[in-house]
Amino acid sequence: MSPARVAKPSKAVIDDLVAAARRARKRAYAPYSGFHVGAAILAGGRIFTGVNVENASYPLSVCAERNAAAAAVMAGKTSFEAVAVVADDTEPTPPCGGCRQVLHEFGPQMLVVAEADGGRRAEWTVSSLLPAAFDSASFRDR
Ligand code: THU
Repeated sequence: MSPARVAKPSKAVIDDLVAAARRARKRAYAPYSGFHVGAAILAGGRIFTGVNVENASYPLSVCAERNAAAAAVMAGKTSFEAVAVVADDTEPTPPCGGCRQVLHEFGPQMLVVAEADGGRRAEWTVSSLLPAAFDSASFRDR
C-alpha cells in the first residue's frame, strides 16, 4: 500500500511549531547530558510539546520527540503531520533512531524540521530518515 500524500504545512505553521519546540526546550530535564531538547508535534491542527527527561539510571531517559508523541496520543491523536525539534546545538539535530521508529508509527510522510541555535533549519520526511521501516505491515500476515 503506498503511503497517503500529505500536504506540507505552510511556512507560518512550521514557524509556530518551531517556536513551540523552542519554548518547550526550557523545560528539558537534562542534568546528565546537558543537552536540552524540545519537540513539538502538529496533529489535527493542534500542537503537542515534549522535552527530554533524563534519569540517574541513564537508559531510562526519554527523548523529547517520544514525550511529545505520548502527549499527542493522550489527546486522541494518532496521525501526525509534522514535528519540530530544537536542541542545544549549532547544527540542526535529527531525531535519534528510536524516535524515528516511534514517529514513523504515526505518519511515515510526516515532515521533520530541526532548528539549530542561530536559526539554521534542516527538513526531512520520516520515511527519508527511516527507509525500509519495520511497521505493522511487516508482520500483518502471521
Ligand atoms: N535526545 C532527544 O531528546 N532527542 C533526540 O532525537 C536526540 C537525543 C536527548 C536524549 C538525551 O537526553 C540527550 O538528548 C542526549 O542524548
